[in-house]
Amino acid sequence: MTAPAPRPPIDTSQAHPARVYDWLLGGKDNYPVDEAVGTQLPPEARDAARQNRAFMHRAAAWLASQGTDQFLDIGTGIPTAPNLHQVVQRALPSAKVVYTDNDPIVLRHAQALLVSAPEGATDYIQADVRDPKAILEHARTVLDFDRPIALSLIALMHFIGDEQNPYDIVSTLVSALPSGSHLVLSHASSDIFPDLSDQVTAEYAKGGIKLAFRTREGVARFFDGLEPVAPGLVTATEWFREEPAPESEASGIYAVVARVP
Ligand SMILES: C[S@@+](CC[C@H](N)C(=O)[O-])C[C@H]1O[C@@H](n2cnc3c(N)ncnc32)[C@H](O)[C@@H]1O
Repeated sequence: MTAPAPRPPIDTSQAHPARVYDWLLGGKDNYPVDEAVGTQLPPEARDAARQNRAFMHRAAAWLASQGTDQFLDIGTGIPTAPNLHQVVQRALPSAKVVYTDNDPIVLRHAQALLVSAPEGATDYIQADVRDPKAILEHARTVLDFDRPIALSLIALMHFIGDEQNPYDIVSTLVSALPSGSHLVLSHASSDIFPDLSDQVTAEYAKGGIKLAFRTREGVARFFDGLEPVAPGLVTATEWFREEPAPESEASGIYAVVARVP
């Protein structure tokens, strides 16, 4: 019998993106260092987290309604019901979801992500998006790469600075997907509310977290060569499919779903 792999330690001396986000969403899986960052952020940061999560729910539900039954979700975050698999398995109980995050706290809570509908499957790997080949290698053991897959990078790529080749990373992941797949992306903007973006970036930096919020053009580069589905690249509160976006609050989060041709 092999001994279980040692659990990576939780570093409570420094704030972590997954735990600050959990705090912003009103969760309990965070530490005083994370709360210290959260409380210094403008109130709009909580709105952005909620708007982002709601976009994920709508995009996942729409993809499932179109028959997409395989999802590769990177930068999953601490489980927060409903999680992606719960949204898609409501429509397609046989759907399979592979979750990935690099934060040990997400691994600790991954059990909640692994409660799949019996007809489907969920899987979790502790991995870094900066090693896309390792993620793909594992995902191939669960998902069928000859059939469409939705790759979701929700509020993830703004943690990857330009010096870490974010566009090459996304291109490596997308190139592995067959035609008819989709990229689902949300990303904090630097140009919608520039003052707020600067303030948020400065507060995260004080907590030791480097952010790389991007302009509309910078976000559009992530889906270069893909076909954005309506309504295109909009803000999180504007991304609606079945009905027109309701008269709603403004959002500083860009959101898009783009099809792999
Ligand atoms: C803001 S949360 C978003 C969570 C979820 N996708 C959502 O939108 O509700 C960002 C997540 O990305 C993860 N993350 C940050 N850098 C990462 C990296 N290099 N590789 C994998 N995950 C990363 C964090 O640990 C965190 O859980």
